[in-house]
Amino acid sequence: MTRTVIRGGLVVTAAEELHADVLVEDEKIVALATTGSTAADGWTAERTVDAAGMYVIPGGVDAHTHMELPFGGTAASDTFETGTRAAAWGGTTTIVDFAVQGVGASLREGLDAWHAKAEGNCAVDYGFHMILSDVDDASLKEMDLLVGEGVTSFKLFMAYPGVFYSDDGKILRAMQRGADNGGLIMMHAENGIAIDVLVEQALAAGRTDPRHHGEVRRELLEAEATHRAIKLAQVAGSPLYVVHVSAASALAEIAGARDAGLPVFGETCPQYLFLSTDNLAEHGTDGFEGAKYVCSTPLRPREHQAELWKGLRTNDLQVVSTDHCPFCFSGQKELGRGDFSKIPNGLPGVENRMDLLHQAVVEGRISRRRWIEIACATPARMFGLYPRKGTIAPGADADIVVYDPNAVQTISADTHHMNVDYSAYEGKQITGKVRTVLSRGTVVVDGDAYLGRAGHGRYQPRATCQYLDR
Ligand code: URP
Ligand code: ZN
Ligand code: ZN
Repeated sequence: MTRTVIRGGLVVTAAEELHADVLVEDEKIVALATTGSTAADGWTAERTVDAAGMYVIPGGVDAHTHMELPFGGTAASDTFETGTRAAAWGGTTTIVDFAVQGVGASLREGLDAWHAKAEGNCAVDYGFHMILSDVDDASLKEMDLLVGEGVTSFKLFMAYPGVFYSDDGKILRAMQRGADNGGLIMMHAENGIAIDVLVEQALAAGRTDPRHHGEVRRELLEAEATHRAIKLAQVAGSPLYVVHVSAASALAEIAGARDAGLPVFGETCPQYLFLSTDNLAEHGTDGFEGAKYVCSTPLRPREHQAELWKGLRTNDLQVVSTDHCPFCFSGQKELGRGDFSKIPNGLPGVENRMDLLHQAVVEGRISRRRWIEIACATPARMFGLYPRKGTIAPGADADIVVYDPNAVQTISADTHHMNVDYSAYEGKQITGKVRTVLSRGTVVVDGDAYLGRAGHGRYQPRATCQYLDR
């Protein structure tokens, strides 16, 4: 047995803050002892981590990533190996990625393919959601089997006709099935049919620059789809988790549903909190710089940010995930030169989330405990991983980050570890930095040294959503 003691830090969880030493045995946290109490006197350990002046926080849980996703005529540039290594560097010790059902293929084929990509390659632990792109009798039956195997959430798309899109009938059927089998429906809420009309009209009128991506993906079409998804979920008697909320009016739909007592949850992402249409309109040398910021839902005008922060404070939004889906500017984003609709959709961010949210703590937008709640504890509970993940408590996995709240760093593609040739946050100064990261008791990052390995990360079967009585 290997014992590690983390001494003298401020332990911060979603529920409390206390100066405490943390004892780890092999992969698990076994005890906490208030600093200065006699409880820790007898603790002997092979390794001691000095956390004086540091926060000791649970490893981040990023519940929305797309490693190596084939999309937009190319594939996301982070593999499970590079992407989970970058996650570790950024203090995230669990990801939940999206396996994809190919059109005409079974869920089993899709899930097996994603297991094959991840197995033996991950630096930190991982689970899977399933993207349903072909809802029929067979795939509905398979949903039940997947829930039994720990794939307990299913993403549906009201966007991307011809790719992942499901019509309202298919959505309703999947929601009804989820209501029965405990699967949580995750919705990409944008009216893709209407968006495609606006795309065609924009291109025909010569409006081809990246900023038009944001203009055709109208706020109203996110709000309308969010409203419709909520009503469909209500008809089905199903809970609903709306992914990557970017528009204030979509958030208002979620808040309204929650006020009415419906089991509706909302996620936003750092890009919507820190970036805006100003970035999409960046010109660069040739008018194409904005391609770096093309994602869906799109970035919104800056005014939306304050509403999203408010939603996080009032718990109308519960989770911040990254929707990490990186494409290099060179050779990948460039596929859309002259036609914004061909720019692969997605932004890098798995390495930056914990730091960006800490910056929000520094700026007084959220409290320290709320930081841990939206980035660790709630995503773990939402997706059936709590209390194994998302907290620091006896019995939990020893996924622990020793975080220096006073270190100053500047985000840059020159120093990040994601396999992508730009940073969406280039030059942004952050107060706070990950110092040491333990994944199931193993030190995987220590200062400037990466000590992890591909294959350390283990598949995490998940329980059903822990916010629902079942
Ligand atoms: O632009 C995005 N969000 N790309 C990834 C796919 C998705 O819709 O989440
Ligand atoms: Zn999506
Ligand atoms: Zn996504």
